[in-house]
Formats: sequence, structure tokens, C-alpha cells
Amino acid sequence: MSSQKNEKMEAIISLAKRRGFIYPGSDVYGGLSGTWDYGPLGVTLKRKIMQLWWQHFVESRDDMYGVDAAILMNQKVWQASGHVDTFADPLVEDLKTGERLRADHLLEDAGYDVEGQTMAQLDELIKQHGIKSPSGNELSSVRTFNMMFSTTVGPVADDKSVSYLRPETAQGIFTNYKNIVDNFYPNLPFGLAQQGKAFRNEISPRDFIFRSREFEQMEIEYFVRPDNWQESFDALLKDIYDYLEALGLPSDKIHELDVPEADRAHYSEKTIDLEYDYPIGRKELLGLAYRTDFDLKNIQNASSKTMEYMVKGTNERFIPHVIEPSFGVERVLMAVMENAYWFDEANDRIVMKFPENIAPVKYAVSPLLKNKPELVAKAREVYAALKKKYGNVMWDDNGNIGKRYRRQDEIGTPQCVVIDFETIEGDGTVTVRDRDTTEQKRVKLDELI
Ligand code: GLY
Repeated sequence: MSSQKNEKMEAIISLAKRRGFIYPGSDVYGGLSGTWDYGPLGVTLKRKIMQLWWQHFVESRDDMYGVDAAILMNQKVWQASGHVDTFADPLVEDLKTGERLRADHLLEDAGYDVEGQTMAQLDELIKQHGIKSPSGNELSSVRTFNMMFSTTVGPVADDKSVSYLRPETAQGIFTNYKNIVDNFYPNLPFGLAQQGKAFRNEISPRDFIFRSREFEQMEIEYFVRPDNWQESFDALLKDIYDYLEALGLPSDKIHELDVPEADRAHYSEKTIDLEYDYPIGRKELLGLAYRTDFDLKNIQNASSKTMEYMVKGTNERFIPHVIEPSFGVERVLMAVMENAYWFDEANDRIVMKFPENIAPVKYAVSPLLKNKPELVAKAREVYAALKKKYGNVMWDDNGNIGKRYRRQDEIGTPQCVVIDFETIEGDGTVTVRDRDTTEQKRVKLDELI
């Protein structure tokens, strides 16, 4: 990773904090590693990304149903899903400081390819290459570390009350599959979609919001006939590209990785990861997995309730297979921020070139001079009308007009509207200044509103 790329990452992190997008979690108390808080602009941008997803994959289709399951679930969910036994990362400890580290990350940082390596092989590689901790100390052997956060539910803390913060939203979908089939009688193929928080006790959270301990997912479990899963897999892949295009992410920064068996999750028979060229390198943006009937079969076995689907008007019954598009919201957000970030050398300014459909602020409205009551009054009127129409409109009268433009460029506002004397005394036009070109044109207020 070149230092120029790291500089870009640092610049984005700094802008995110400076301009009210993303702050380190619990910052006032010195932080809590792997957690991030969203400020007014960050939460708007994130919600727009999530709303666009919901619109694209749920509302605009008639084969998708939304659900919103509880985060805390019966411990049997995670036993049946395999997460209690297998949802683990390779852990090593610094033998001197006790610091806990991820074995695969240490090897990757030292330039070794760890794709498809088992825990035992990682252990072997650490020893063979004499890998040390970042403090230069010897490391322990590699062992597995389960990434689920556990807690207890109710007043008595015992084995029966153990529960977990969900590490994926998917299981809240699978556990509702039967409810939806019984209530809505959907024809196959059909999908259930969910957005919501997920939690993983990452050994070493890093790379800004890319790998954090609390994050948000957008997932679909798409139920299909076992014999034509490939068709739905390909169709969903195409839909995913359409969604990424609507976010303005260019296809030349997105790469398909057919994940080798050894690197696939325990439930997957095929996974295509879409990777993105982040400033920190090419990394997973999202995954599309063929989960077979792994989950429904496990639920059927563990609950003794049938998960079979009966084809309408026939006696044909089977457990559907599943295709799963799984998006981490923060990874999408980080790609959107990377793609938007532009240092405009010609004008010596930073611009976040968010596409208009997801820009947190659509218009910023200003009076040219804030000490002229007649300009302020007219600007307030224009602001109120635009706000009523679009919602995400900002009032900005801080500093001089040049400073306002700089600030709005950094938060990615596509257009600034300025009310001046010509608006109130002349032809009733306002100045509309374009973020990307800095061009200013006069637009009739009627046309704007
Ligand atoms: N449901 C897939 C994942 O969380 O990675």
C-alpha cells in the first residue's frame, strides 16, 4: 500500500471527523476500540445508502419481503447455524505484553499470502518465517477465537440464559422463513430482506470503519428451487452491480473474486466476493453466497419443525436452497467516501463528489451578506420552501461566502443557493453555484422551487 494511498485514507478519516460524518465511539472517555459514532452528515449519508438499497432490492420488486428481527435470539439459533462451533478467527498473543493479534493479518502485513490457510498452517507459517508481534516479541501458538459477543438474558445468569449479539442478520431471516411462507404464500423464488446491526468481537479492529466490532448489514436470503440456484445467483449478481452503479461506484474499482473453498464460510458452497479498490488496498466490499439448504435443514433438525416448501397446487415438497447477497453498510459507505473524495488542485480545495441522490445535503442556502436583514429574510423564505420540498437542505450563513463554499464542497453539497440584492431588487433570480465545476449561474426562483 503506497503512502499516497494511506494519505488519502487519513484525509478521509480527518474530514469525516472534522465535518460531522463519523467520530470514534466513546471519544470523550478515550474511545472504545472498534466502535464508531455517526454525526448528522454521516447518519444521513448512511441512511440514504440503506434506503436506496431497500428501494432497489425490496420496494421495486414483487418477489421480496422485508423483515426486522430481534438482535437477541435464542441460543439454539447460533448452535444450529454452526456459529457457536465455527465462527472463529486465528488468534496469537504477544508472549511479553499479552496483546492479542490476528495471525493471518500479521502474516499478510509481512507480505505473505494466507489465502485458504487453516489454523494449523497459519501456525506453521508464523513459526517458519519467525513472525514477531508489532512490539518485536515472540508469539504464542495460533488458536481459535470465537467472535460472538455473549451475554445473558434475564435475571439469572446460567447456561440456559446465554445469548449472543447476532454476528449476522441472516439468522433472523431464516428463523422467520416459515412465518412468511405461512402468511404470504410466496411463489419460489422469493427473498426475505433485512437491514440492521450485527456484532463481531474482532481481535484487532482496524482500517477505520472497514473492520469494526459493531456494524450494520443489509442481507437477503433468496429462496430458490435447488436445481436452478445458478440462475438466481447470476441475476442477483447483476442486481448488485446495478445498485453499486446507482451509488456512483465505478465498475473499474470493483473486482470479482471466486472465493476458494478453504476461505469460504462454513455454510457456503460458492461465494463471489466483490472487492473494491479502497485506499487500504483491494478488499471485500460485499459477498454473494450460495448457502444451499444448510440453514433451513439445520433449523428443521434442531427445532423438529418442517421447513419444507410445498409447491402450490401440487404435492411437491422440498427444502428450498438459498442465495445470499450480504452487504456491510460501512464497507459500502467507505467505498462511497473513497470514490467521492477529490482534491481539486486547480482550486486548492477538497470536494466530496457524492452523487446527488445520496448527498447528505442537497442544497445549502445563504444570504450573500448576513448583516442585511432584507437578504436574510428572503434567504430564509427560499430555505423554508426548499426544505419543505427536499428535506435535506442546509442553512449556512457562517463566515464569508468563499468559506461557505469550501465547507459545502467538503460535505459534498451539489449546489449552493445564494440570495443577493438582484434577488430582491432585480429580476428575482438567485445564484446557484455548482460544487464540481464551481460555475455560478442565475436561476429564477420559480424554477428552483
Ligand atoms: N451472512 C453472511 C455474513 O454475515 O457474512
